[in-house]
Amino acid sequence: MDMKTRILFVCLGNICRSPAADGIMHRIVEEKGVAGNFEIDSAGTYGGHRGELPDSRMRSAASRRGYALTHRSRQVREEDFERFDMIVAMDDMNYESLNRLAPSREAARKIFRMAEFCRRHPDRTYVPDPYYEGHEGFELVLDMLEDGCEGILESLCQK
Ligand code: 4NP
Repeated sequence: MDMKTRILFVCLGNICRSPAADGIMHRIVEEKGVAGNFEIDSAGTYGGHRGELPDSRMRSAASRRGYALTHRSRQVREEDFERFDMIVAMDDMNYESLNRLAPSREAARKIFRMAEFCRRHPDRTYVPDPYYEGHEGFELVLDMLEDGCEGILESLCQK
């Protein structure tokens, strides 16, 4: 029996927010010694950056916190709803794109918003797009993603 929990993080370009969430979640499950229970990946609703490494600004901000981001951008696809148990959208636009892509109502129940799991950022309803922002944008995004990834793991442990 396969008891893995499969989590897919989704943003627009899959070069800033979702690959960072992917790298952070990988490290959290490793530190907790439960990496074998998870499959973690990320994708974008927009395919224009496919094959690219994360944005260099995100890679440097993440590396200052000890995360080496090596994911290659890919576009989310309908089959991801079969493979993954949780599909976690960074903002409302991603959430709506995922709902349009979901092949059924049951599949759409796998879609969550990252901000739901951010306990230390109770006033935020989405993870802002840092692509056109400065340094602070990336730091805020990483703070929220660390918060949200811990929140996801806690919510799964309560089940
Ligand atoms: P991400 O950031 O969705 O966090 O990867 C963006 C990356 C690329 C673009 C927008 C947002 N873009 O317009 O190309």
